This record gives sequence, structure tokens and C-alpha cells, in this order.
Amino acid sequence: MEQQNIYDNEEFFNSYQEMRQSTTVPNANDLIEIPQLFELIGDVKGKTILDLGCGSGGHDRKLIELGAKSVLGIDLSHNMINEAIKNNNTDKIEYKVMSMCDIDKLDRKFDLVVSSLAIHYIEDYDGLCKKVYDILNPGGEFIFSNSHPNDTAPILTNLEHRWVMLNDKKYFLLSDYNNEGKRSNFWYIDGVENYHRNMSTLVNGLLKANFRLEKMQESYASEEAIRLRPKYIEQKDHSYYVYFKAKKEN
Ligand SMILES: C[S@@+](CC[C@H](N)C(=O)[O-])C[C@H]1O[C@@H](n2cnc3c(N)ncnc32)[C@H](O)[C@@H]1O
Repeated sequence: MEQQNIYDNEEFFNSYQEMRQSTTVPNANDLIEIPQLFELIGDVKGKTILDLGCGSGGHDRKLIELGAKSVLGIDLSHNMINEAIKNNNTDKIEYKVMSMCDIDKLDRKFDLVVSSLAIHYIEDYDGLCKKVYDILNPGGEFIFSNSHPNDTAPILTNLEHRWVMLNDKKYFLLSDYNNEGKRSNFWYIDGVENYHRNMSTLVNGLLKANFRLEKMQESYASEEAIRLRPKYIEQKDHSYYVYFKAKKEN
């Protein structure tokens, strides 16, 4: 299964990095997704961690600061791994350019597998859940965020057209919710691909792999996030992300 590697497209990569690094416009990663994911991750002291789709490595640094023993970050994109290596100069963090679909080829096990907004790029979700289960130590956890199915469902070519305005209010479109599969959208550039899965598929992939589901959380905007970026009040109608915490029992 050949997967698109959009973060190695220079135009896309530069626009994405500009959004993530902007000091003038706060982004939903910093205000919403990262704090909520880390709340679910909780105590990492002494843990060995695998980060699937680690990007430029911000989460890995934070995991080590929180007391993790070691982190292996993997990403499909050379651009991202180069950034991650530049950003994190410690022997507690190691990076590899590889697909998360190949983790069955790694020769070690982990206490925790995390992933932040990367799993919606892969096609075989059930297969990934099984591979994560196998690579965890007994008692290990799989904690990840994914684009919310609300957002990935509509088959549109431009993400800016995901709503209609009625009486001055945004109403989000939820067409094609149960029509799962590949989507191709304009996001900085044309033809950015990801995979829509409904909530049943996201939950059942974990259960079929034998995980015990410990928590599922849909994103929300805190009062502070709304104060810093008023647009995020729309999360009262429409979550951007969903988070899962699943355990491999002993
Ligand atoms: C939205 S970025 C998130 C990066 C990072 N987790 C963060 O939150 O800052 C998604 C990342 O997933 C990576 N990715 C996409 N498909 C992947 C795959 N099959 N295996 C590993 N990484 C992948 C992309 O290259 C990109 O770096």
C-alpha cells in the first residue's frame, strides 16, 4: 500500500511549519490538542515510549521532560525527522524515518505508544492497532489523537467549505459519515489525502486488537482557548479531535 508523503512536499511542509510556529496566531494544536492529549497520557516516569508520526518532535521533548526513560520517534517524512533531530539533542530520544505501518519490524517493545494527529493518514487502521498491541509490554498503553470523524466525513475538495451559514451561525456538514475511506482535500495545497473512519471503526479496531478501552474523549475548547482564539468557540458545536486511551492487559 503506497501512502502519500505530503510532509515531504516543500510547499505543504513550509506552510504547515509556518502555521505550527506562528507566534502571532495561536493554533489548535497548542491550545487544544496537545494539552488534552497530555492530560490523557498522564504519568510517563520511567517509561519507554514509541511516538508514531512524531513530526518535528515537540511531544518527544515534553515526554522526556516529564520523566520518560526514552522515546523513539518515527515519521514517514524526511523533512520532519530532520527537524526533530535538530530540535532534540539528547541521547534519550532517537529518530527513524519509517512508516508506522512497519512497526512490526522493530526489534523491541515499549511501555507506551503515543500518536498525535497522524493515524488518520494511514489506510489500515485495524492492522495498525494489532501491530501496536504486539509491540507493547504487558500493561502497556496506546494513547492517540485523531481528526474527529465529524471533520473527516464530508467528501469535499476544500476544507473551507465544510459548513453553511444560517442566521449568522455556522452549521457544519456531516455528509458521507458512514462512507468510510480515502479523502482528498485542499489544505495549503491540492490533493492532501487522509482516511475517514467513523467512530465505530475507531473504537472497534482497538477492541478487535484485544485492547481494553480506558477512555475516549472528544475535544473541546477551554475558556482560555476561546479567549486567545475566539473562533474556537465553534467547538461547542463540533469537536476537531478525538482521543483514545487503550490498555494491553497483563
Ligand atoms: C499533523 S502531523 C503531526 C506531527 C506531530 N505528531 C505533532 O503533533 O506535532 C502528522 C505527521 O504524521 C506523519 N505521518 C503520516 N503518515 C505516516 C506514516 N504512515 N508513518 C509515520 N508517520 C506518518 C507525517 O509525516 C506528519 O509528520
